[in-house]
Amino acid sequence: MKKRKVLSVFGTRPEAIKMVPLVQELSARDGIESLCCLTGQHRQMLDSVMQVFGQRADYDLNIMQQQQSLSSITTRAILGMEQVISEAAPDLVLVHGDTSTTFAGALAAFYHKIPVGHVEAGLRTYDIYSPFPEEMNRLLVSDIAALHFAPTPANAENLRKEAVRGEIFVTGNTVIDAMKTTVRKDFRFATQTLNALDFAGRRVITVTCHRRENYGKPMRDILSAIRTVAQTHEDVEVVYPVHLSPAVRACAQEILGNVPRVHLIDPVDVEEMHNLIARSCFVMTDSGGLQEEAPALGKPVLVLRRETERPEAVAAGTVRLVGVEYADVLAGANALLENPAAYDAMAHAANPYGDGKACKRIADAIEWHFGLRPCRPEEFHQ
Ligand code: UD1
Ligand code: UDP
Repeated sequence: MKKRKVLSVFGTRPEAIKMVPLVQELSARDGIESLCCLTGQHRQMLDSVMQVFGQRADYDLNIMQQQQSLSSITTRAILGMEQVISEAAPDLVLVHGDTSTTFAGALAAFYHKIPVGHVEAGLRTYDIYSPFPEEMNRLLVSDIAALHFAPTPANAENLRKEAVRGEIFVTGNTVIDAMKTTVRKDFRFATQTLNALDFAGRRVITVTCHRRENYGKPMRDILSAIRTVAQTHEDVEVVYPVHLSPAVRACAQEILGNVPRVHLIDPVDVEEMHNLIARSCFVMTDSGGLQEEAPALGKPVLVLRRETERPEAVAAGTVRLVGVEYADVLAGANALLENPAAYDAMAHAANPYGDGKACKRIADAIEWHFGLRPCRPEEFHQ
């Protein structure tokens, strides 16, 4: 029997963390040939994930440039994909989430009339400028996709309300699958700063902040509030693995460089990151992925944004949206540090985003789509 070819396209760190487990699940299916194309929108941060999961790329467009513009990522990825799609001739192209790679990958597949499967579909803020450009990327991909893999029932409901074409499956988020292999009680950090931290005796706050809509004043205000937190709590250590974006690094260095008890470190690999979260007191972040991971590990999250497309953990009580104003960010952190009842109310494990079986459900749905399986997969329930 001729195998069906599935080409997974991704290019940034979070896409890789959430797609490699799926690429590997698809490789284990007899009727499927699983191929993987990196756009290389990120370089070091992407390669780090591939290395941790032991995954090789079949194609690599290597498009990253320093301080790249949205137009440059999108055009270079679409042009590169043209040749890959002609050569690989896939039966299905999979994209993930909402990056420029996601949109370019889906559009390139559409230009070749190849059906698209969208992993992590249906997340919405309904503000096209927040997150920017991600909200528009995911809206556009929802118009192109034939298969929509929604992590949660609410994500699926968003897609139904928009009357998107194609099939919708509620699968859970593949990041919870990834965490099954990364988090270990006896994990030893390779990063010296992390290895030297006294997680039992100190309160460690893990911080990440990188979103384009936070560049400038919001990011300066957020990081200034975090500086005040470190300066006013002697038992606190702030660990901030700083994204490689030059705009982010300049701001982090300017405001948090040389502040006692603040550790600015290079991005760490995904195993180190997941185990860092697991040992932290709480997380402050504007990242999407951390809003899913930390609740699964029972760690409170303060979201450094005005809105979130991930309301499920807010409803579960483990995530709070604190916004981007200095006073609000400071008050949010102080509440968790100074009010044990407020901390305890947020510090419980919640898994609204998955049960670790998302990759299996997505692979089953793809087999069903190809007629290799008689029925649709069971849906993920919270
Ligand atoms: C991108 C995604 C964002 C996602 C984020 C995850 C878009 C528009 N944005 O934003 O949705 O949340 O990735 O991290 O798709 N750089 C390096 N090495 C790396 C990675 C980045 O040097 O491994 C530097 C480069 O100078 C690059 C810059 O960071 O130009 C910005 O990268 P880019 O992918 O354009 O934007 P992100 O902010 O990473
Ligand atoms: N992450 C990592 N190393 C780091 C910082 C983050 O491995 O130094 C992981 C994190 O655990 C999560 C993902 O990267 O799985 C989130 O990526 P990012 O914040 O870059 O993007 P977003 O999720 O906001 O799109």
